Amino acid sequence: MPNFAKIHNAEDLRRAAAAYLPAPILDFIDGGAEDETSVRNNRAVFERVRFRPRTLVDVETRSIAATLLGKPAAAPIGIAPMGGLSNFAPAAELAMARACEAAGIPYCLSTAAGISIEDLRRAVPGARLWYQLYVFQDDAVNDGIVRRAQDAGYDAMIVTTDTHMGPKRERDRRNGFALTLERSPRNVARVLARPRWVWDVLIRAGLPGMPNLAAHAPEATGNLAATKYFIANRRRAFDVAQLRALRRVWKGKLLVKGVLRADEAVQVLEAGADGIVMSNHGGRNLDGAAAPLQMLPEVADAVGGRMHVLIDSGFRRGTDIVKALALGAEGVLLGRPAAYAVAAGGEAGVAHLIGLTKDEIDRTLGYLGCTTVDQLGRDHVLLDHASPGRNEPGL
Ligand SMILES: Cc1cc2nc3c(=O)[nH]c(=O)nc-3n(C[C@H](O)[C@H](O)[C@H](O)COP(=O)(O)O)c2cc1C
Repeated sequence: MPNFAKIHNAEDLRRAAAAYLPAPILDFIDGGAEDETSVRNNRAVFERVRFRPRTLVDVETRSIAATLLGKPAAAPIGIAPMGGLSNFAPAAELAMARACEAAGIPYCLSTAAGISIEDLRRAVPGARLWYQLYVFQDDAVNDGIVRRAQDAGYDAMIVTTDTHMGPKRERDRRNGFALTLERSPRNVARVLARPRWVWDVLIRAGLPGMPNLAAHAPEATGNLAATKYFIANRRRAFDVAQLRALRRVWKGKLLVKGVLRADEAVQVLEAGADGIVMSNHGGRNLDGAAAPLQMLPEVADAVGGRMHVLIDSGFRRGTDIVKALALGAEGVLLGRPAAYAVAAGGEAGVAHLIGLTKDEIDRTLGYLGCTTVDQLGRDHVLLDHASPGRNEPGL
């Protein structure tokens, strides 16, 4: 367990994770598609938004509580769906969900999770759980998963639409990593260099594959088979009509993850969905995709107030989160920082990350002269190449 007193931010958590994880697994978390320009741009855009603080305000009493998808949350954040977590720490999904429950924020389980929908629900009966759906060719698989998430009381379904093409992540290709690691001499050496991980993850916990997928597609049983199924069976034909069909089946909140354009956000709204997660998948899929933060002002102008707008990709700090809220997002999902945190320290690591993030959000609010998150607005930020009186969208 790392010394949390010395871990002050997501980058510190990454360093702690790097000491625990074999290099190809760390590369899988860190990496993006092709030249990784999207990954870098996702971070760079935050520097093009500056705060316009207000100081003569009584901020003695503050609250960072928020409303996410119509329900109260202790902060305007949740944890993004991530597959492959079983490679990072034993029972990683459970650790994340427990930390989220204790912190009063939602946790989103991935289709590629290593724990079943029902087992997670039973383990954290009081947690606020969302489910992320990858749509496969076989409707029996999709329908079965959706029904089970509904029966288990997950209160939102987030259908990811930006992963229909197989991404070209060159670090993983070089490392021979596709959720399972090729047994090359180099990889064996790199795995053996992390004996604690070998003991915890490979020997004691084992790699569970994707049980939710395997329950409906028996040929996807086991880690390697699940990965192969995943790659071979993505649906590339998911469109607005199919979104409408899903809307008829799923009773809870329905969101589409991967939307970046205002016109597509409007289509999602018209299809009867409740919201979007603006995302470029953390730069892991389409290299060169705009950062969601860049697209947020125009999307918020088009649909703001009429649908829930969550956002992810590149968020590492409370200040990043507050910038997105000021530009019109309802909440932010944390991706890689939570992956580093769970590898660095399991549930305690994720709890530490959430605590740091909450503290930074609170401090930023106070500096801006706000006492609640719903006081944030575009007036609190200055966009690059906009002068204070003419704060137009377009970072
Ligand atoms: C290791 C890893 C696995 C991921 N798996 C999924 C997944 O199964 N489903 C999904 O919709 N997004 C997945 N994502 C994308 C995240 O949900 C989120 O969009 C992204 O991590 C946000 O960018 P950030 O990591 O820079 O914060 C994954 C991301 C990472 C880092």
